[in-house]
Amino acid sequence: MEYRNLRTLTHALLLLLCSWVASSVAVQQNLTDSAHNETKHIFKDIQSMHLYFAESCWLGYTRNMSTVNSDNWCEWHHINRHYSNLRICLEDLAEILNLAFPNNIANNYIMMGHRTYFINCTLPFQELADPPEHILLALILAPISIIPFLVTLVVCKSKTTKPHT
Ligand SMILES: *[C@@H]1O[C@H](CO)[C@@H](O)[C@H](O)[C@H]1NC(C)=O
Ligand SMILES: *[C@@H]1O[C@H](CO)[C@@H](O)[C@H](O)[C@H]1NC(C)=O
Ligand SMILES: *[C@@H]1O[C@H](CO)[C@@H](O)[C@H](O)[C@H]1NC(C)=O
Ligand SMILES: *[C@@H]1O[C@H](CO)[C@@H](O)[C@H](O)[C@H]1NC(C)=O
Repeated sequence: MEYRNLRTLTHALLLLLCSWVASSVAVQQNLTDSAHNETKHIFKDIQSMHLYFAESCWLGYTRNMSTVNSDNWCEWHHINRHYSNLRICLEDLAEILNLAFPNNIANNYIMMGHRTYFINCTLPFQELADPPEHILLALILAPISIIPFLVTLVVCKSKTTKPHT
């Protein structure tokens, strides 16, 4: 009699434990889902912040370049400081937002600088200004191509932790 009671109690406790584990796994799944949603939301905000502040780096650069006579736009020692400042501005921005550098937004602005100011400069500078297309493409694609990989990793991981109820 005593023994049967004990067994029933054990069964009940075990059942309770199981349902508790199952529900906490479900809660965790919900938490993971909302974390994903949160991440998507934050990511969108970071992207727009990145665009906004990169634009202000660019405006600062054009303001600074406007102090240089256009006859001197191909003279490295005249534009060196401004060019470095633009790069530092974009690089610091990426660091603050915890993004890779170089990234495609920064590259766009640097390329825009080349097109706006250095397009008519002579060859030695031109080579410096326009890296070969395949290198440029690699620079742009490297940080982008890691995203699908990370997404796959996260999806696989959340699939394996899904409760089997
Ligand atoms: C998970 O979330 C859904 C909807 O957001 C809710 O109906 C469900 O009760 C939640 N499950 C747990 C275990 O919290
Ligand atoms: C996450 O977002 C999707 C759609 O954007 C929504 O259906 C889902 O309920 C959200 N999950 C949580 C836990 O907020
Ligand atoms: C513009 O010039 C100022 C003064 O030299 C410098 O502090 C600033 O970083 C420059 N901004 C950009 C975006 O080049
Ligand atoms: C480059 O040359 C073209 C044609 O001579 C001229 O219209 C343009 O303003 C020049 N651009 C720069 C940045 O010097």
